[in-house]
Amino acid sequence: MRYLADIDVKNKKVLVRVDFNVPLEDGVVRDDTRIRASLKTIDHLQEQGAKIILCSHLGKPKGEKNLKFSLKPVAQRLGELLHKEVKFCPDCIGEIAQSMVKELKSGEVLLLENLRFYPGEQQNDLDFAKELAKLADIYINDAFGVAHRAHASVVGVTKAVKECGAGFLLQKEIEYLSKALKQPKRPFVAVLGGAKVSTKLGILKAFLEKVDKIIVGGAMANTFLSAKGYKLGASLVEVDLLETAREILNKAKKKNVAFYLPVDFICGPGPEEKVGKGVCPFLEIPENEMALDIGPATSILYAEALKDAKTVVWNGPMGAFENPAFSQGSLNLAEDISRVDGLTIVGGGDTDALIHKAGVVEKLSFVSTGGGSFLKFMEGNELPALLALEECEQKKGERK
Ligand code: 3PG
Repeated sequence: MRYLADIDVKNKKVLVRVDFNVPLEDGVVRDDTRIRASLKTIDHLQEQGAKIILCSHLGKPKGEKNLKFSLKPVAQRLGELLHKEVKFCPDCIGEIAQSMVKELKSGEVLLLENLRFYPGEQQNDLDFAKELAKLADIYINDAFGVAHRAHASVVGVTKAVKECGAGFLLQKEIEYLSKALKQPKRPFVAVLGGAKVSTKLGILKAFLEKVDKIIVGGAMANTFLSAKGYKLGASLVEVDLLETAREILNKAKKKNVAFYLPVDFICGPGPEEKVGKGVCPFLEIPENEMALDIGPATSILYAEALKDAKTVVWNGPMGAFENPAFSQGSLNLAEDISRVDGLTIVGGGDTDALIHKAGVVEKLSFVSTGGGSFLKFMEGNELPALLALEECEQKKGERK
């Protein structure tokens, strides 16, 4: 694969696929983490005198123009971060886009409107991809968050441009995540949380082949405990996955992978309740209550399991952490992971929010910008974006 640092971009029109899928509130960007993550690539392109054309999706507008999903507020925020004007184009292809690109001077930045206003984006439609490619001399992918999507701005466009490469963010993501996957220092500990086992089945199975310990929290732990025969009151349990959960537990035993489950919880009638009812050992969750956070004994157990770790990969909170009544277990875990003397990699939107809340971001080795793409990469899957960049490079070699 080619990387941005090795590509001559001077005076060239460079189309950069970024992941500016950020939360908006009343027309203002609420969390600019993903915008900041692209700054290194944009700064480099400015310094090198490229004409910078940024494109992204935002939300799921279902192939129709819907200004609720406009990227205009992102142009405003990016301008503030760059301390310079960011031009905004109200379309991502067609005449307006072409004429705005034509007027771009070296070092200037233009953000195109939401790619998903066109159905061709998600359909990986080649005609739509060609329209995008028409705008540029070079295509750079810096959007790890959509690396698992075979969409036109990720895959199709690479077939239609002359030159492609990976931006600094994508490069860093690949380097860090590969470090954990390919030659992890041991003990290698996977920490998985979140609501559903069903969304983490792939990663659980993949990790069983790779790690020494798996720590599980969040509502997905309930399904495992229920599979072991424990009663969990009104807690969320995926009944249709009990057999799968049993198979995973058996496989962990066979493979000598230590599988950690909660030994106590903070319970309550529901995740929105203001106050947790207090600590419930899991044998004693009242019938009308739910496990909403891991309890203090579990925090101690998990801290102990993390103490000798040399590689940690973490995705998903330990409970309903958005509610302060049920956040302590997740915050404790964030602290414990941040103290690990080794490679610590964190991925996923909720986990990102959590580490910010815990104030430990700077103490972690790497925070991925990917959610679904992070899981897919960690499962060991080939991601469409990376394959497309490699194929583009191969084709260029053949043309020479
Ligand atoms: C994300 O938020 O995980 C990425 O931007 C991908 O978004 P999507 O799930 O809508 O494709």
